[in-house]
Amino acid sequence: MWSSTQSAVAVVASVLRVFQVHAPVLTPDAVAQRTLLQDDGASAGPLVPHTRGCVVTETLMIHSFGNSYGHPYVGPYTPPQCDFNRVTLNLTVTAAGKQFDRLAIAYFGDIEIWRTSTAEPTPNGIVWTYVKDVSYLLSLFTCPQTLIFDLGNLINENYTSPFNVTLQATFFTTDDTEKRADLIIPVAAERSTSNKSSIRDDRRDRVSSTLILPRNIERAVVTVAATGQMAEEFWYSNVLSSNVDTFGTDSLLGYSPFREIQLLIDGNLAGVVWPFPVIFTGGIVRGLWRPIVGIDTFDIREDEIDITPWLPLLCDGESHSLELRVVGIDDDGNGSGLLSDSVGSYWVLAGKIFVWLDSVGSITTGSWPLSDASVCTISMSSTVGTTSNGTNSTLSYDVNVDRQLYISSEVQTSQGTKVAVWQQYLTYSNEGNISDFGDVQVTRQNTFGRAISSEGYSRTFSYPLFVNSTLVQDKSADTLSIAADLRRAQAIEINGRSLFPTGLESFEWPSTEDARGLGDRSRFNGSRLTTSQNGSAAYFSHGNTSISPGTTQQDFSLYGIQSSALGSGPASLIELYHRRVLAVNDTLVRDEVSFPTQDEKVV
Ligand SMILES: *[C@@H]1O[C@H](CO)[C@@H](O)[C@H](O)[C@H]1NC(C)=O
Ligand SMILES: *[C@@H]1O[C@H](CO)[C@@H](O)[C@H](O)[C@H]1NC(C)=O
Ligand SMILES: *[C@@H]1O[C@H](CO)[C@@H](O)[C@H](O)[C@H]1NC(C)=O
Ligand SMILES: *[C@@H]1O[C@H](CO)[C@@H](O)[C@H](O)[C@H]1NC(C)=O
Ligand SMILES: *[C@@H]1O[C@H](CO)[C@@H](O)[C@H](O)[C@H]1NC(C)=O
Ligand SMILES: *[C@@H]1O[C@H](CO)[C@@H](O)[C@H](O)[C@H]1NC(C)=O
Ligand SMILES: *[C@@H]1O[C@H](CO)[C@@H](O)[C@H](O)[C@H]1NC(C)=O
Ligand SMILES: *[C@@H]1O[C@H](CO)[C@@H](O)[C@H](O)[C@H]1NC(C)=O
Ligand SMILES: *[C@@H]1O[C@H](CO)[C@@H](O)[C@H](O)[C@H]1NC(C)=O
Ligand SMILES: *[C@@H]1O[C@H](CO)[C@@H](O)[C@H](O)[C@H]1NC(C)=O
Ligand SMILES: *[C@@H]1O[C@H](CO)[C@@H](O)[C@H](O)[C@H]1NC(C)=O
Ligand SMILES: *[C@@H]1O[C@H](CO)[C@@H](O)[C@H](O)[C@H]1NC(C)=O
Repeated sequence: MWSSTQSAVAVVASVLRVFQVHAPVLTPDAVAQRTLLQDDGASAGPLVPHTRGCVVTETLMIHSFGNSYGHPYVGPYTPPQCDFNRVTLNLTVTAAGKQFDRLAIAYFGDIEIWRTSTAEPTPNGIVWTYVKDVSYLLSLFTCPQTLIFDLGNLINENYTSPFNVTLQATFFTTDDTEKRADLIIPVAAERSTSNKSSIRDDRRDRVSSTLILPRNIERAVVTVAATGQMAEEFWYSNVLSSNVDTFGTDSLLGYSPFREIQLLIDGNLAGVVWPFPVIFTGGIVRGLWRPIVGIDTFDIREDEIDITPWLPLLCDGESHSLELRVVGIDDDGNGSGLLSDSVGSYWVLAGKIFVWLDSVGSITTGSWPLSDASVCTISMSSTVGTTSNGTNSTLSYDVNVDRQLYISSEVQTSQGTKVAVWQQYLTYSNEGNISDFGDVQVTRQNTFGRAISSEGYSRTFSYPLFVNSTLVQDKSADTLSIAADLRRAQAIEINGRSLFPTGLESFEWPSTEDARGLGDRSRFNGSRLTTSQNGSAAYFSHGNTSISPGTTQQDFSLYGIQSSALGSGPASLIELYHRRVLAVNDTLVRDEVSFPTQDEKVV
């Protein structure tokens, strides 16, 4: 299985299997099937599964979400009575009938553990399974918890389908020497004691916590989950606020197509996230997303911000506030704009603080800040075109944002003194053309960023997006048609210690020597994931019936990065996993998977 190229043509089954293309996840099966590679590239034969600890699968929840707004599933979680250091969750969902895509969030108490969204069902039914590595949440899984699974859904005469959800956890053990965070603390309104999910109803573009942290912290990272909904679902196609009334009564959505999520510590900017444009399964045109869903749709990626430079402040024993807020741009209509105080309604925001503790009794101190500098430059322009009688018919705009952020301090722990640094460099551009009095919209967006932490982590990303959609509506005949072309990609390169799994877990098992305790030697210095999706689809509706034919292609590659020994000279990229899929009119017509390095060796 590891060494062959699979090629499959799906038969039209009564129940459609939908899926998200993603990196392989390390599971007990993968561990058992793994071919052990030694440093010279020779195979040492199949690895005997590890016998330490347990391999246990437990069902955490079986629940049907019907009319479930404000009624999350609530139930207890009890850890298995054995040792484990890895956990995967298997979310399996079935649905049949008609339904929108819905956002769903699983929590342990107030702490979000999985943000996902649902696929839109067909009358004959769909099913999907997504397995997620949640080993980075280990300290939560080793304690009893209250599981809250919030999937708000609505059933009525037109929208008929509940989502039947099974959540399983598999616990197992590897010779993994990675030290997981000791504590995980939510940055969210505390609502779990009333059995509600932690999503706030009031001001949804901000969440905050005021807390007193332990005084012996050695390293801390904040993770950020941010999802635009309703008026903010397609934020990347919003226009300048000064242009929302360009086409008369049907107001366009404003605050510009730029969004930034800011992390503030006691009101000071500590880091930012420039979001990936997640597109849900009903997004733009649903025919683009069946059975291949959009990038990250079932596993909405969180970003990380290292706040180690803030430890001299945060470990002073006093209370401090951590706040997440979403901003866009307010412009004056003359080409000048500033980051806005708010955005449209609404965003679902959540943060977690991952804390690694120093020895008991020690107190982290230091000098803060050595440097705390952030520069953000914004430029934009827009042009309205009119017909000969003076009616606005087109709108063209562009928005460019650059940000640099540099925060450093001197942190003293029981290990000594270190200079802690968090740096970010980000560039954004969005160019949009709206024509035909608002019915045709072309969006071309590029987001690029690099973050570097002195704790041995760096991440570079690029999120290009192109969407062209054309709408034709005849209100008197009750018909609507939308045609859309889409191209987009996600490229993420991570070097060093990432909090989240990178996909390399399945490929860098310690060699037998390491398993005998000779150290934690990994084959790679970093990972590079690149995936692209392109497609064309249409949507036609008449009254209560609709069809949405389309074609979508996706390519996915995972590479391991090997730096030269001294870190100088070019790094080599080794492709470890490749998958290419093609769907036409709700049918998977091509699915090719390969493991290039294993293929070479075996051939
Ligand atoms: C995931 O869970 C479903 C439903 O319980 C099960 O049928 C499926 O085999 C599981 N898949 C994996 C990969 O664990
Ligand atoms: C979902 O669960 C409900 C209630 O148990 C059941 O009636 C329905 O058939 C299930 N739907 C699917 C698609 O499995
Ligand atoms: C169901 O759809 C019909 C036709 O579009 C509409 O008239 C009716 O209001 C809808 N019902 C609900 C509950 O939304
Ligand atoms: C929360 O749900 C649990 C389990 O259903 C129940 O035992 C408990 O009483 C509920 N708490 C509140 C405050 O409603
Ligand atoms: C034309 O567009 C401009 C700029 O967006 C807007 O201020 C103006 O109100 C629009 N004119 C009409 C008649 O809608
Ligand atoms: C925009 O520019 C016009 C023409 O120069 C000027 O009259 C107007 O006051 C400016 N508006 C703002 C908000 O600066
Ligand atoms: C202006 O021209 C457009 C077509 O070019 C037409 O649809 C619109 O009704 C006209 N508006 C007025 C006020 O005459
Ligand atoms: C918008 O229109 C301008 C002028 O026609 C063109 O140069 C530009 O490439 C267009 N941008 C997009 C995103 O289509
Ligand atoms: C957008 O789609 C329309 C309709 O198919 C087409 O005429 C137009 O050329 C496309 N624009 C771009 C920039 O691809
Ligand atoms: C996706 O892009 C490739 C390469 O440009 C092209 O060959 C293919 O036809 C496109 N597929 C779709 C569905 O647009
Ligand atoms: C997909 O469906 C559309 C509309 O039913 C049809 O025109 C098109 O030929 C189909 N494409 C393929 C490859 O079957
Ligand atoms: C990359 O990893 C190798 C082997 O673990 C190590 O010797 C080397 O120093 C690392 N290079 C960098 C730049 O971290």
